[in-house]
Amino acid sequence: MTRSFQTRIDAEQKIEPKDWMPEKYRQTLIRQISQHAHSEVIGEQPEGNWITRAPSLERKAILLAKVQDEAGHGLYLYAAAETLGITREELIDRLHTGASKYASIFNYPSLTWADVGAIGWLVDSAAIVNQVSLQNTSYGPYARAMVRICKEESFHQRQGYNIMMTLMQGNEQQRAMAQDALDRWWWPSLMMFGPHDGESAHSAQSMKWKIKRRSNDDLRQQYVDQAVQQALAIGLKVPDPALAWNEERGHYDFGDIDWEEFERVIKGNGPCNRQRLAHHVEAHAEGVWVREAMACYDKKRRSRRHDAA
Ligand code: 3HC
Repeated sequence: MTRSFQTRIDAEQKIEPKDWMPEKYRQTLIRQISQHAHSEVIGEQPEGNWITRAPSLERKAILLAKVQDEAGHGLYLYAAAETLGITREELIDRLHTGASKYASIFNYPSLTWADVGAIGWLVDSAAIVNQVSLQNTSYGPYARAMVRICKEESFHQRQGYNIMMTLMQGNEQQRAMAQDALDRWWWPSLMMFGPHDGESAHSAQSMKWKIKRRSNDDLRQQYVDQAVQQALAIGLKVPDPALAWNEERGHYDFGDIDWEEFERVIKGNGPCNRQRLAHHVEAHAEGVWVREAMACYDKKRRSRRHDAA
């Protein structure tokens, strides 16, 4: 069975929920898809922090739409994870107990309005680079969720970059605010692509199963090459003294990532880890009545259908 499974993967066939799959393939997908979903939902917090303080009604409406989109992305991805035989309750429980991660970048504080721009521009750009590649992942429900999510991400990235561009066309204080945001969000955005390929615990198998289609470093390099050009275009300085265009490679060389910081943050000791999780636990508890009402409605609807049949 395992050999024919790999033959299907090698033939670029999509694996669907009812297909046979190695248990480790299933567990890897549950791990990655659930952490992706958690990231979408926790990622609403740093930006949501600025909805009531947006500088104009238009910026407020745009930010509201983006944060609402992220909740929807979480929903698509939780639904994709549930096709692998795990319940929503189990997924949320793994988040709350720390058994399941979410993207380290969301454990940094959003201190100024420019951070909303930097998050939209840098974080959503990184997400797009990764998610475009995941549209070809071997698991059908995940690939289809990615196609839908990618359609919305470009608006997310564009509105963030527009905030940064507007600030850079502003006064000295606004330009300094934009540069400060880039200084704080640049390196954590590079960490979004995970450890270097040689240090990645999962990449080799995930690439073999075509869950991952491109390596962490390959995706990161594409991201750096495009983000640096975007920064230069609006007069921002990337906070990396080692950054230099390498004509021979046709890419930017860049400095070393602080993997000690990365490990600290993914182990729960980042600036906002406790706050982010506590907020999610509290919001989840407050929402129990909604879930109970929906479950009750669904039960009634099913029994009415049953009686009518
Ligand atoms: N933050 C937190 N944990 C990370 C991480 C990060 N940036 N990068 C890697 N890790 C973790 C991995 O989860 C793994 O830990 P685990 O075994 O407990 O799951 C460990 O570090 C080793 O990393 P690997 O590279 O070996 O792990 P993966 O093969 O899973 O690759 C990944 C990591 C590239 C993040 C991959 O899981 C992936 O592509 N995930 C889907 C994309 C995703 O989750 N993006 C998160 C951001 S979503 C977002 O930004 C939404 C936007 O709209 C705002």
